[in-house]
Amino acid sequence: MSQLIPAVMLVVIAGCGNPPDAEFVLSERTRGLDREAQKPIAITLEEDFGTPQDLVAWLRFPLNYGRHEGSVIKDEEEKIIPKAHQFLADFGDAQPADLKSGTPLMWLSGIYKGQTVPLRNYDSENRLVSLQQGLETAPAVGDQFVIVGDVLQNGRKLYMTHCMHCHGVSGDGAGPTAPFLNPRPRDYRLGLFKFTSTKATFKAHSDDLERIVKYGIPGTYMPSFLLLEKDEMEAIIEYVRFLAIRGEMEKKLVDELESDYSKEVMKKRTKSGESREEILEELASFFEEDYPDIIDYAATDLAEVWSAANEEGNLILPKLPRVADTAESRERGRKLYLSNDTKCVTCHGPTGRGGAAETGRPVGCHRAARRQGSHSLRRGELEDPGHSPRGRHMPHVRGRRRRDPDGPRRLI
Ligand code: HEC
Ligand code: HEC
Repeated sequence: MSQLIPAVMLVVIAGCGNPPDAEFVLSERTRGLDREAQKPIAITLEEDFGTPQDLVAWLRFPLNYGRHEGSVIKDEEEKIIPKAHQFLADFGDAQPADLKSGTPLMWLSGIYKGQTVPLRNYDSENRLVSLQQGLETAPAVGDQFVIVGDVLQNGRKLYMTHCMHCHGVSGDGAGPTAPFLNPRPRDYRLGLFKFTSTKATFKAHSDDLERIVKYGIPGTYMPSFLLLEKDEMEAIIEYVRFLAIRGEMEKKLVDELESDYSKEVMKKRTKSGESREEILEELASFFEEDYPDIIDYAATDLAEVWSAANEEGNLILPKLPRVADTAESRERGRKLYLSNDTKCVTCHGPTGRGGAAETGRPVGCHRAARRQGSHSLRRGELEDPGHSPRGRHMPHVRGRRRRDPDGPRRLI
């Protein structure tokens, strides 16, 4: 039945208890564009990802929005026949739990084929689907439909309760609590995560994100959410992935526009003789001719990289199990740490307090070093140093590890 659903389909997931003023904000870089260049980006993001109140599920991305395919049935005693606003549903083996108001139901066959209607609810005990508004006439027995988005809807609700005040409505790491925290909450919009088990160029695996949310990041304000139910955890992770993809889409679109249409460049261009009208005409034809393809490429790319991140083949699997923590192994580790091969000491200092010569901070200032240079390694909570934090100056020690596979892993 899945083939009936086109991948480009956008489904609006309406209705939720969000504060009505919660909104996705444009990134600083987008806001640095000329107003006319910002507009299409804002429109694209709203059309393809929605608002915090009405999310959009773009089925092209490898996100588990929640998806339940079913068909209209009659009950055995033929007492309950399909009505315009209510009918019995058969979901085969994949019977969903109760579904909430606003989750969209899309007809895949029958007279309503292609139309989407919001649910009032789905009562799993009686297998009864109720719609918010009655159809013109009852659907026929056998009509097929898909209900999309309950996972994302749930993820949004939980995210707004547990994560938003630090990570922000848009996942920009700028929630109301963020200014007081050091290090700052992660900005998901870059699509870059630190504690990953995937190979160097890959995104975070969903299990990596889950491990972070479950156990938190000791030594930072990222708390542990060990008490979430399994389905709640899954929903939150999908929502984080959704915000990351949305943010990366925005970034890719700005990348295309910034060099010609930032406020600054526009100023320069008009100063050097081009008229604003001319430039805006050029911009308009860019949006007409090139922009749709740019969105398409960006979406294809994002769909690919995020699905690759969850492929088992792209995980780093240590060849040796972690060595036991003995006095002897610590001594070997100390030697490696201080050796010229690994050069750890050049940044982290001889006692691991951070801020040695290469990071330009005196040994001992480990708070400042943590903020601006290398991490202090003395917090004792670093579980798996096998993977390099992304996006800073912390180097990979690949070659070294290959020659002595249990080398640097032994350091901590
Ligand atoms: C009290 C503030 C706070 C709350 C609440 C919070 N976080 Fe975080 N989170 C942080 C901070 C701070 C970091 C960055 C830590 C660092 O840089 O090492 C972070 C980092 C992360 C990361 C990045 C991990 C990586 O590998 O890069 C993820 C994912 C994340 N948080 C998800 C969540 C989710 C999901 C929730 C809600 C269930 C949540 N956080 C709630 C503060 C918070
Ligand atoms: C060129 C400088 C440099 C060298 C050499 C270096 N590091 Fe780092 N290291 C850093 C920086 C910078 C960070 C902080 C990265 C961040 O905050 O994102 C860091 C962070 C770390 C962390 C903390 C990770 C975390 O997420 O908190 C560990 C553990 C670590 N380094 C171990 C090592 C080991 C072991 C070596 C030698 C094999 C080494 N480093 C060599 C610069 C360096």
